[in-house]
Amino acid sequence: MSGPLDDIVATIAETAPDVRGGLAGRRVYESGANPSGETQLAADVYADELLAERLLGVEGVSAYASEERGSVRHSDGNGDGAYRVAVDPLDGSSNLRSNNAMGTLFAVYDEPLPAPGAAVVASGFVLYGPITTMVVARDGTVTESVVEDDGTRRVVDPDLTLPDEPTVYGFGGRVPQWSNAFAAYVEAVESELKLRYGGAMIADVNQVLTHGGVFGYPGLADRPEGKLRLCFEGHPIAHVVESAGGASSNGDRSLLACTPGGLHDRTPLFVGDERYIERLEAALSG
Ligand code: F6P
Repeated sequence: MSGPLDDIVATIAETAPDVRGGLAGRRVYESGANPSGETQLAADVYADELLAERLLGVEGVSAYASEERGSVRHSDGNGDGAYRVAVDPLDGSSNLRSNNAMGTLFAVYDEPLPAPGAAVVASGFVLYGPITTMVVARDGTVTESVVEDDGTRRVVDPDLTLPDEPTVYGFGGRVPQWSNAFAAYVEAVESELKLRYGGAMIADVNQVLTHGGVFGYPGLADRPEGKLRLCFEGHPIAHVVESAGGASSNGDRSLLACTPGGLHDRTPLFVGDERYIERLEAALSG
């Protein structure tokens, strides 16, 4: 017996080989920009269209939203479905031209979008690295699977938890744009952990899930709201990391306690080891 949440996760896994297979020929930029004003690669648009079609075909899904489209798309047939899926179809897609890792990130909400973090009922990501893996958070448990070429999943860790011993960190944004308080925090972190930053949030957070540590993209002097989007990046990655025993923050409180005003709202974002998130909040509040 499978329910809508199983079907949503299976649909994303089954779509992963198609997204991956379509990358090589889609490293060129489209003429338009996404709703956040960023250039789109043909691969962003391709992944978004595949996921929209397939997820809106899942029984129980009434709406699909993505970083690549301005408004929520509603299902024709399942208008009263309980679940709304928010997707970043290709997180870190600027890594495509340099052939570095990137991924597909999703959150399933049981309220209309844009919804509060408390409405996330499942979340996860596909990581297109040397192999394709999928991490899914549901009911307080995180599983990691390898996604085979036919879209089937082979579980490699049925209960993924953040390692107790933190090892790595990665922080985005240009250093001169950081606040003094954040820069002082980073100086302390740098003396304790080692840098791992690749420019795709999913890949960078997966390093934290694997090795322990902390990832963040802070508010910047010229962009106090930060770069990452609450609905498409903040809520899903916070739900994954918190379900794995870690913590999340917007600098002040858990990202899952945050409610977006608009679908494409951005947020400062910090996830990882609970002690490092606590220290970050203390540093930023001082
Ligand atoms: O979604 C935006 C994104 O690609 C994230 O995956 C990543 O963490 C960030 O931007 C990288 O930004 P920057 O190029 O400023 O390091």
